Amino acid sequence: MLKLVNLTKQYGDKIAVNRLSLTLQPGVVTGFLGPNGSGKSTTMKMIISLVHPTAGEVIIDGKRYHELTEPTKNIGTLIDPSAINHNLTARQHLALISTAANMDTSRINQMLDMTGLKMVENKKVKSYSLGMKQRLGVATALMSDPDVVILDEPFNGLDVDGIKWLRGLFKQLANSGKTVIVSSHLMGEIQAVADRVVIIGQGKLLADMTMKEMNQKSLSTYVYVETNHLKKMKKLLQDNLANVQELEKGLEVRNLTAKEVGILAYKHQLTLFELKTVQPTLEELFTEITAGKVDYVSRGDEIT
Ligand SMILES: Nc1ncnc2c1ncn2[C@@H]1O[C@H](COP(=O)(O)OP(=O)(O)OP(=O)(O)O)[C@@H](O)[C@H]1O
Ligand SMILES: [Mg+2]
Repeated sequence: MLKLVNLTKQYGDKIAVNRLSLTLQPGVVTGFLGPNGSGKSTTMKMIISLVHPTAGEVIIDGKRYHELTEPTKNIGTLIDPSAINHNLTARQHLALISTAANMDTSRINQMLDMTGLKMVENKKVKSYSLGMKQRLGVATALMSDPDVVILDEPFNGLDVDGIKWLRGLFKQLANSGKTVIVSSHLMGEIQAVADRVVIIGQGKLLADMTMKEMNQKSLSTYVYVETNHLKKMKKLLQDNLANVQELEKGLEVRNLTAKEVGILAYKHQLTLFELKTVQPTLEELFTEITAGKVDYVSRGDEIT
């Protein structure tokens, strides 16, 4: 189990991570989301002791990082896919890190196969595309078969096939009991892969919920209905205390479930063309939660 306790990092006046407390469970893929500069990478670096916390601590299976006998067996990470000696080949790089960290070298072939790098294993890393470097970064993170896998923006630079492959890999890792933490700006990817979502803004925890809770969040959930008699349906719904908004072709209904709307329509012999519950996407929720907690906002309108 991985525990962050009041984890804090201050750079001069800037509080990059602010009293962050979290417990990350095995068998779960946690999506770690936040706007640019919100402290995701700094948190990940503190977990593996690359950055020293100003306050607070990280507890890994009851121990601090420096107390672990073979930390690479506990945690595997991908923080910066370019942090590789570019004059080495993929095979040489994996051999080097496995020797340095006393890992099982027999996993090199397995990792090259799994990440699809077998074809280019003897080519120097400097000739690799960003996606190929990401794949090598994933291979590096998993070389020691660690219990905790931390990947910072692993979808960056991956093609459709690579994204699909990573999604499957994360599920597989979690199913085998590993703790998987993945940061991303691609909400759709996190939505497709995560069991739990942690959102931070300006270094502070803004939301921590399971995907199920996220889906049930009433914030923006509504029922969409189209019928042959919109005005009559609207009146009926309002008489039943629903909050109703007229859209172009249908109605946006709050306070009633799709089932209740369906029963009401049936009782009054209205024909339904469409009836569905619309859930907020992770992207909408993210925007809602992080509003006002962003350091860098795009201002496309300033380009002339
Ligand atoms: N070495 C450093 N020295 C000074 N400030 C730093 C340093 N590293 C990070 N910061 C600052 O800490 C804040 C958090 O940065 P961090 O890289 O953790 O954000 P992030 O959430 O990973 O952002 P992104 O989505 O852009 O990767 C930023 O304001 C950043 O400028
Ligand atoms: Mg980052």
